[in-house]
Amino acid sequence: MKLKFDYNNMMDSAIGAHGVKPSEIDKAAKAHEAAFNEVIGNSGKGWQEWTETPMISKAEIAELNAFGKCVRDKASSFVVLGIGGSALGPICVFNALLHLHHNELPEKARKAPKIYVEDNIDPERMAALFDVIDVKTSYFNVITKSGETSETLSQFLILYNALKKQIGEKAAKEHIFVTTTIGKGSLYAVAQKEGFKIFGIPSGVGGRFSVLSNVGLVPFAVMGIDIESMLYGAKAMRAACEKPDVKANPALMTAFLQVQSMKAGKNISVVMPYADGLKTMADFYCQIWAESLGKAVDKSGKTVYYGQTPAKSLGVTDQHSQVQLYTEGPFDKVVTFIAVDSFGASVKIPSDETADIGDFLKGHTLNELINAERKATEFALTKAERSNYTIYMPEVTAETVGELLMYFMYETAFAGAYLNIDTFNQPGVEEGKKATFAMIGRKGYEEKLKEVNSVKKNDSYIIK
Ligand code: PA5
Repeated sequence: MKLKFDYNNMMDSAIGAHGVKPSEIDKAAKAHEAAFNEVIGNSGKGWQEWTETPMISKAEIAELNAFGKCVRDKASSFVVLGIGGSALGPICVFNALLHLHHNELPEKARKAPKIYVEDNIDPERMAALFDVIDVKTSYFNVITKSGETSETLSQFLILYNALKKQIGEKAAKEHIFVTTTIGKGSLYAVAQKEGFKIFGIPSGVGGRFSVLSNVGLVPFAVMGIDIESMLYGAKAMRAACEKPDVKANPALMTAFLQVQSMKAGKNISVVMPYADGLKTMADFYCQIWAESLGKAVDKSGKTVYYGQTPAKSLGVTDQHSQVQLYTEGPFDKVVTFIAVDSFGASVKIPSDETADIGDFLKGHTLNELINAERKATEFALTKAERSNYTIYMPEVTAETVGELLMYFMYETAFAGAYLNIDTFNQPGVEEGKKATFAMIGRKGYEEKLKEVNSVKKNDSYIIK
């Protein structure tokens, strides 16, 4: 494992009464064992098939790479249509592993087509997409685990229609490929009928745990990302998370510390990477943490209203926006820093610059400055007795990104197990999906529509 986890600043030795005592960790031996057995004992079973996603064969990787290269060689733009767990993996890996201004690079300097992940249905955004892509030479990966999500299906309908109009029906079919559950859902049926290429999602892999299945791997192959190294990293993290000793298992330990903190009133979990490439990793974390742990009832049916609100922050940018609150506001947060030791570029602040300003900066590098600022923020937070821990990445590569993604998935699964909740369902999201179907007039949702329409608004509470 290349990642390193430093949880010193979660402990009472660093932050006094706001920290966790070593005896709390030791006394919870039974809870660690139960959480560990719940996750590891059920590896590969039920909704825990995600643990198996990195275990694909070399032949499968080669097939994905060949497909990816084929699309990469002919596409001017590659567009992912999906939302939630069907979009955030492709977004964060694109952001982490391709050039930070990938789409703006001249074509010759780009290693892949322009990449767009359309995870919203804002009509202006769809119109804007048509302004920047050439539909005729673009390829579209429609990703939806259920095959029923309104947002993704409507995007598909719009783009398939545009393709058919511009290049004809036969050619249009070659420009669309679908990632969905085999044998289930409307999109699978349409894909079969139309003859689109279909990539399967294993039935026991839920949306937010699907990044290392075809949901992520197909787009990564098109992006030209080293899938083999990414899965190697994921497997290394899996091995670390399969260690029963909480003190040797990073995800089990940090899940425990987060759960203890939550029970002590720290209801906000901030993730703060100090690297622009990892900015959208925070979005990935926010979804998996929020949707998995925000639950009204536990597994015994008891009302618990659990959850820790995830918040994203970017170092150093948000030092000038949110850190004041983290340092002096309520003691209701845990901050997770993600530190990068070695960046993909080194930028020197010239020592021979004649401008009579910033002498203390001259001769240093931005690399030194960003890491000094991270350590300084960690120091200030710890001095103010705020819970924080740091994940160290030696560098941002396919391998370390694979480790980080796998770590987030295990950490979430262990946290859900400590809380004794169903980590893998999302009844709150499903309710909204059904209400949308009802309001848009989908057959079979007539009763839901009556329920939605029965909600009355009091005009006197509306300010005009
Ligand atoms: O994690 C989840 O299950 C959800 O966030 C889904 O990924 C999201 O709702 C999209 O669902 P689908 O992939 O079925 O279109």
